Amino acid sequence: MPTTTLPEYRVALPKELVADLARHAAILPDWKLTDGLLSPETAVAYRQTLRSFPYIAEFLAICDRLLNAPAGEGFAVLELADLLDALGTGNNGLHAVTALVSLIATPLRAFGRWPLWKALGTNLAIDPMRATGTGYNPMHLDIVNSTWPPDYSALLCVRPDPKGQGHSLVSQIRRAVDRLSYADTELLTHPRYEDGDFYDLTGVGEEWRPFPIIDGLSPLGGFVRFTAKMFADANSADPYIKAARALERELIVGQRRFLLGRGDMLIVNQHLCCHGREALGRGQEDVPESERRLLLQIFLRRPSPLEVMA
Ligand SMILES: [Fe+2]
Repeated sequence: MPTTTLPEYRVALPKELVADLARHAAILPDWKLTDGLLSPETAVAYRQTLRSFPYIAEFLAICDRLLNAPAGEGFAVLELADLLDALGTGNNGLHAVTALVSLIATPLRAFGRWPLWKALGTNLAIDPMRATGTGYNPMHLDIVNSTWPPDYSALLCVRPDPKGQGHSLVSQIRRAVDRLSYADTELLTHPRYEDGDFYDLTGVGEEWRPFPIIDGLSPLGGFVRFTAKMFADANSADPYIKAARALERELIVGQRRFLLGRGDMLIVNQHLCCHGREALGRGQEDVPESERRLLLQIFLRRPSPLEVMA
């Protein structure tokens, strides 16, 4: 009999862990934030509750292996549908998911005017390439124009596109750089790139404008600050832009493509991967807004390499 195996980046939540989280969700406190980060008190409360669950250590080890260097591809999809079925996407559900991901890294509210979990609905009136748009959202890092972008960017799918499209895209950015010519790689080390505005942000350092795409640091602390959104206003004859286009081509060559179902949570390590989204299905105007695709976005911050060594 043929057997189907899950893609290697998918992480199923053991039913015992779902049951433990569901049983304890009501006693998980509402989160408090300190400088945009989950407060130490909340982190301790979550850890104290979850650390006794028998399957938690194994779950975290799998996440670590997928998400981080040297072995990991730099992304994972956690299957949380059973948890959302048990708890919904109100307070209990979000407390449980926040507690779970807080054991991977510290939740960060980077956008001052949005909640910790930022709703990304589907807006037919906005630029289609934006996160809430309906078009192709090309490869990028989140908050790319900062000195310290979030270490992980995560998207929890509450409602997939009813038209069955909007595939997620993820590509290993360091491998893409390795395939470039020496000349293109050298051009990408110059601070010649810009991307959009920078305001009301917390916990991501300072604005970096213009920034280099390759900062020369290791994946532990450094980034390859790429965003294809910069091409909208760029001079295509500029050699620096040509080099960035070469990187985009390599990212597309290496990209993984998959659909997020309800309850799937994509976590991307921004030191290793960039991400994007294909266009949603045609005919969105026929779908009531309350039934269109809905994701919840959260960022995660891990200890800095200096803190780890201290
Ligand atoms: Fe993004």
